[in-house]
Amino acid sequence: MKDPSETLSSDAIKNVLDELEAQSSHRIEKVSDNVQLETLRIEYLGRKARLSLVLSSLGSLDKEERGSAGERANRLRRQIEEAIRQKAESLKGSAKKEGVDFTLPGVRRERGVTHPITATIREIARIFETLNFEWVAGREIETEFYNFTALNIPDDHPSRDSFDTFFTQGGNLLRSQTSTVQIRVMEKRKPPLRIIAPGRVYRPDTVDASHSFMFHQIEGLMVDDRTTFADLKGVIHLFLRALFGKDSKIRFRPHFFPFTEPSVEVDVSCFICRAKGCSVCGQKGWLEVMGAGSVDPAVFQAVGYDPKKVQGFAFGLGVERICMLKHGINDIRLFYENDLRFLKQFA
Ligand code: DAH
Repeated sequence: MKDPSETLSSDAIKNVLDELEAQSSHRIEKVSDNVQLETLRIEYLGRKARLSLVLSSLGSLDKEERGSAGERANRLRRQIEEAIRQKAESLKGSAKKEGVDFTLPGVRRERGVTHPITATIREIARIFETLNFEWVAGREIETEFYNFTALNIPDDHPSRDSFDTFFTQGGNLLRSQTSTVQIRVMEKRKPPLRIIAPGRVYRPDTVDASHSFMFHQIEGLMVDDRTTFADLKGVIHLFLRALFGKDSKIRFRPHFFPFTEPSVEVDVSCFICRAKGCSVCGQKGWLEVMGAGSVDPAVFQAVGYDPKKVQGFAFGLGVERICMLKHGINDIRLFYENDLRFLKQFA
């Protein structure tokens, strides 16, 4: 026997159906998560839902009324079921889109690594730090005076040509060497001085495996009243052995630079083939790594030092070259392409 108190009258059935028709699809549409949706599903379609009550009350209506109300109630039920199914589907879709699948492991933030050029600069700076050299910074936009004139580079020197240096419209230039920093520091300070100056330099070279329009150099300078060429040799021996291994042999070859006199190019014995000859050293057994020399008196004069009272040495090296040698890198362009497959190898 059915409990008559659980049976709806014909008017009540109509009211329930009117209300469900007016509200259900709107309420389902507004739902924003699966919990709310399940609550609504139970409210509309559960055993105790008013729609279930409507369906079970149909039997008490006249035949005619029963037909139309029953049809309406069943249509509404299908509509609600379909609306809930679609909503569940769309919630699943947006969860995927926003990546809110709480069963997935968290997003791991990768640790950055130091760029190999920065790492090489720091490694070299640490060696000079042990010798009491101070790291100073210069500027990348310079005047002809600091890049050439004060460094005793004559007006007709080919490096001053617009094809060998980037000039700005205002008559300045992008420095083509870090030797500029020697001048900037000596102008401001009195000896004794021991500095290194790492930084970028620019040259309009065609980019290939061993050339870039921008690369890094480290300049070094030591000045006081008694620094000699022997000190230069001692410092460079110490530096190169710290960098390339304590068994390295070092060779000084006479060379010419306008800002040093005498000048040398410095070679280190090839640490790959142990000076036997290989493709990296071009079968020579030696690797050319830096330029150096005793500071030319003309440079001291340009900064207002008395060349009779002070003496010193300077050196310059290319950071990319050192880094390429140390790590067996065969293309300079790899440093600037931001390719993580390359950079991650230096972690
Ligand atoms: N400035 C030179 C260059 O760019 C490198 C260099 C050589 C610097 C000898 C020096 C030096 O201070 O003494 O090629």
